[in-house]
Amino acid sequence: MKQTISINIKGISSFADSSALNSIRARAIANLKTLREGTGRGSEFTGWLRLPDRAVSETTAVRACAARLRAQAPVTVVVGIGGSYLGSRALIEALNDPFAPKEHTLLFAGHTLSEDYHAALLRFLDGTEYNIVVISKSGTTTEPAIAFRVLRDHMRNKLGTAAMKSHIVAITDARRGALHDLAVSEGYETFVIPDDVGGRYSVLTPAGMLPLALAGYHIDAFARGMLDMALSVREGNDNPENIAVTYAAARNALYGRGYSTEILVSYEPSLVFLAEWWKQLYGESEGKEGKGIFPASVSFTTDLHSMGQYIQQGERKLFETVIHVADSYHRLVVPGATDNSDGIGFIAGKRMTEVNHKAEDGTRIAHIDGGVPVIVVSMERIDEYNLGQLMYFFELACAISGYILGVNPFDQPGVESYKKNMFALLGKPGFESERARLEQDLRDKE
Ligand code: PA5
Repeated sequence: MKQTISINIKGISSFADSSALNSIRARAIANLKTLREGTGRGSEFTGWLRLPDRAVSETTAVRACAARLRAQAPVTVVVGIGGSYLGSRALIEALNDPFAPKEHTLLFAGHTLSEDYHAALLRFLDGTEYNIVVISKSGTTTEPAIAFRVLRDHMRNKLGTAAMKSHIVAITDARRGALHDLAVSEGYETFVIPDDVGGRYSVLTPAGMLPLALAGYHIDAFARGMLDMALSVREGNDNPENIAVTYAAARNALYGRGYSTEILVSYEPSLVFLAEWWKQLYGESEGKEGKGIFPASVSFTTDLHSMGQYIQQGERKLFETVIHVADSYHRLVVPGATDNSDGIGFIAGKRMTEVNHKAEDGTRIAHIDGGVPVIVVSMERIDEYNLGQLMYFFELACAISGYILGVNPFDQPGVESYKKNMFALLGKPGFESERARLEQDLRDKE
């Protein structure tokens, strides 16, 4: 068992006092035990805790399905939203070489209600063969349900009913839900998201792993990374070096001092979607009962030229968690120039990663000096194994953190409000009186 992720919280020492931090750390350790024993709030949704222990031996069927789909068509459309979308997207974007030709193209749908997006997608699909992987644990989420209807219609017109069956894979609940029932009646190949694993903790289920395998990445290495981190942090509550405990305690110590917005910072553009996954994980897990740290994200150095001013000198309620990536894959040295008219001659001969790291160091010191506490989470490099470690670390720390806050980190009751209003406004039967009230409300506010 090895752990390749580390954490440094020296950058919060002048913002959170050490006795508060120590007492929160003690609570974090107790909460880790509660999680492990399954005695806390929402414990019926803690199956993800031990998912890595069996996932390593359960990747065969997923890999076989990916190979079949890849051989069948050059494109797969992955349909899903929230936890049934962000994990796989985060991994694929992190690992993707943006300029390399693709052996198999993965496209996403059902994560938005944009008509233009889906119309453009269909136009593209007119000219290619494709598969559909539809992912919805509940099987009733509106956005993917609409996209799947539209895509199914399109595929039926292209291939005919008999041929389309082998081009569709459904990932959903084992027993219930509209998608489950449809998959059974149409005879689609299916994979299960276990009952005890909620969407935002489901990256290691087929919901995350099938798209990753389709894109050509090593799901076994990802699963091994998750397992190694699980063995280190899940079992290591007495270990003072337990990084999940440290992170959960540090961010809650800062929250207690009024730092109510956490910004996830990365210096690699490939991690932008990892931040989207992280925002869902922390936002949906903690933001309830009038509590919770607001999760935001920036991509530096790009956003130093847009958000940097606010972070340096705006309202002082922000703290940062920086993902430091120690090594890059490629070597690119800044060339010398005879005239030095751009004034960067002093950088000539240095690798871009060295420059990026110096930007990171300089920014961290400037932000701490400006009143922004900084936590640093370091990873060796961006690959499947290290991403597995990183994502399990964030998942476990999030659950511990939610318990410190005193909320159920595994439900999302607030997500229902917009849906109820949307259904009523669209005329869903049974919502008539609600519709009248909402339409009046809209008229009053015009
Ligand atoms: O974390 C969650 O539970 C949510 O974000 C869901 O993943 C999201 O709403 C999609 O749900 P479903 O997979 O049921 O379509």
